[in-house]
Amino acid sequence: MTPPEPDLHPLCHAADLVEGGEACPFDVRYQGQTCRAFALRWRGRVHGYLNRCSHVAMEMDWRPNHFLDLTGLHIVCASHGALFRPDTGQCVGGPGRGPLIKIDVVEHEGVVFWRSQYNLQAIEF
Ligand code: FES
Repeated sequence: MTPPEPDLHPLCHAADLVEGGEACPFDVRYQGQTCRAFALRWRGRVHGYLNRCSHVAMEMDWRPNHFLDLTGLHIVCASHGALFRPDTGQCVGGPGRGPLIKIDVVEHEGVVFWRSQYNLQAIEF
């Protein structure tokens, strides 16, 4: 799959991200460090974030690749229960210390891509 723009990186088939289903994990280099990230579908749109809580820099999934709470309204951190809006990453409850780090994601011709930027790069193999 050829990305439609040079700073876009293919992630998964759009159909693989279903509402309330598993998120798609991926790795990035963020400020020079290898970090986990994820993309999930919420209210029809795909959103991407670094898998790093704003309370303590820990991964947040409560089961591998599951981030939404039981209501489906918030991303919940498994460690201490911080709550974040799935569309903006804004912290709306618990001990979080600010928003999640958002990663721009794009759906194009049935494929989800994430967008690199100056502090967020693809991992070179
Ligand atoms: S590490 Fe996420 S709430 Fe504490």
